[in-house]
Amino acid sequence: MRRTPTRRRVIVDKAANVTALARDLAQERAPICEALDAYAGVIRFHMPGHRGGAGAEPAIVAHLGPAAFEKDVTGVPGMDDLHEPHGCIREAEELAAKAFGADRTFFSVGGTTGAIHAMVLGTLSDGDTIIIPRNIHKSILGAVILSGAVPAFVKADYDPYLGFFKGIDGESLKECIGRHPEAKAALLVNPTYYGTSIDLRPIAEYLHARGIILLVDEAHGPHFRFHPKLPAPALDAGADAVAQGAHKILGALTQASYLHVKGNRIDVDRLKAAFQHITTTSASYLLMASLDAARRQMALYGRDILEYAINLADYLRSEVNKIPGLSSFGSENSGQASASLDPTKVTITVRELGITGYRAEKFLRERHGIQVEMSDLYNVLVIVSWGNTTAHVEKLLEGLRDLAGAVGRNQATKDLESSRREIPDLPPIPEMALSPRKAVQSAWETARLSDAKGRVSAEVVTCYPPGIPILYPGEVLTDDTISYLEIMRELAFGISGPKDTSLQTIRVVKDR
Ligand SMILES: Cc1ncc(COP(=O)(O)O)c(C=O)c1O
Repeated sequence: MRRTPTRRRVIVDKAANVTALARDLAQERAPICEALDAYAGVIRFHMPGHRGGAGAEPAIVAHLGPAAFEKDVTGVPGMDDLHEPHGCIREAEELAAKAFGADRTFFSVGGTTGAIHAMVLGTLSDGDTIIIPRNIHKSILGAVILSGAVPAFVKADYDPYLGFFKGIDGESLKECIGRHPEAKAALLVNPTYYGTSIDLRPIAEYLHARGIILLVDEAHGPHFRFHPKLPAPALDAGADAVAQGAHKILGALTQASYLHVKGNRIDVDRLKAAFQHITTTSASYLLMASLDAARRQMALYGRDILEYAINLADYLRSEVNKIPGLSSFGSENSGQASASLDPTKVTITVRELGITGYRAEKFLRERHGIQVEMSDLYNVLVIVSWGNTTAHVEKLLEGLRDLAGAVGRNQATKDLESSRREIPDLPPIPEMALSPRKAVQSAWETARLSDAKGRVSAEVVTCYPPGIPILYPGEVLTDDTISYLEIMRELAFGISGPKDTSLQTIRVVKDR
């Protein structure tokens, strides 16, 4: 039997734990945390108004803990300015750049969304073509709208059994570049939410040979550089700029993210200006200190704590595969490096039970007090971290066995059978008549969906499943798109984006 990993493996002697990277003694430092410590005891006549906690509502101080207020300082002498860093933030960003393999790192306090917005605004101008996959996160659409860039879409690679998009289709990317040699940049999402990943190296070479910049939304891969069994990080694969969700996977506070730049294809001064345009002038030191500490943790202990998380996830995956009606892909990669999967993401497929992932998520939450990362039509997704224990995983397995048993005994209602009515293939990608920015800024009117053929959409329409936009602002409604949306009006478990989520009507650009 596979030995279950123990927490002991994480709590190891620091000296034995030093990786090649950590031999750079500077990585032991956490300059923002140090600056916060040095500020303790100063009498404050400055913002924020809570004066280190003394002026805050006592209940909230008790709730969050006094340290949260004491460390919530602002850009006073001894601290720094995120817009023009010259002190502790500068040092912390430099240490992060070194640890993550970048030439320059910016700390984002506006989520990975903020990092993506700065990355796009810093590289593209109004009317520039940007190549993007169809299954982007909404933060990329926001960046495209803000920049005025015009997207050229690449088909995403759909897995019909799992019911989600595993990445982009390489051939479709090349074909898209062939149609858009004028493209200035490609913004790819790698890995996916489910941890599936593609080899970016040949793509970077292909794009660079054509003078196209490679930007990567690596929201779910900030840990890749710190363990050889994880997919190659985008920066090492040749990406020019990368946005990483430190708060999603590493130990940083919610919102805290990194924006990394490497090489000379990107004008760093322009990027910095864009970063300033979208960044608060009162950046939270709690968030920035957590980015500093998350880098330190990875640089010093990343390999060991990731080894623990990978072993724990592999154990979960192999036990899930023993439960009748459940499966979890990726066991074939277990214990080895894989370019195609982050093993700490465990997708548990429940479709053979005849229930949806949504129902499974609810069951685990309500009956077992377990909250998974997310669910979709056929799956629940679990992220296994070094913060999890074997006991957590055993509890999850107990919940999953209970779920499978309850469905078998008809004690948990099946809800998938009706949705097995065939979900149609995606309609062809519509023509884009206006940039998304022009489409959302134009005067709009409401049209009946059935009468909207030839009209230009003023809104985005996403159906769950398949969980990607069917229509972007600026795209022309065709018969194919309209009939797809009419079918999904009945079948979808959720519609997001349009004002009228019943999809009887749609907002279209006026006078076109
Ligand atoms: C692939 C991807 N990119 C970007 C984001 C935006 O991240 P944030 O919520 O930190 O702004 C997300 C959020 O889930 C995401 O999944």
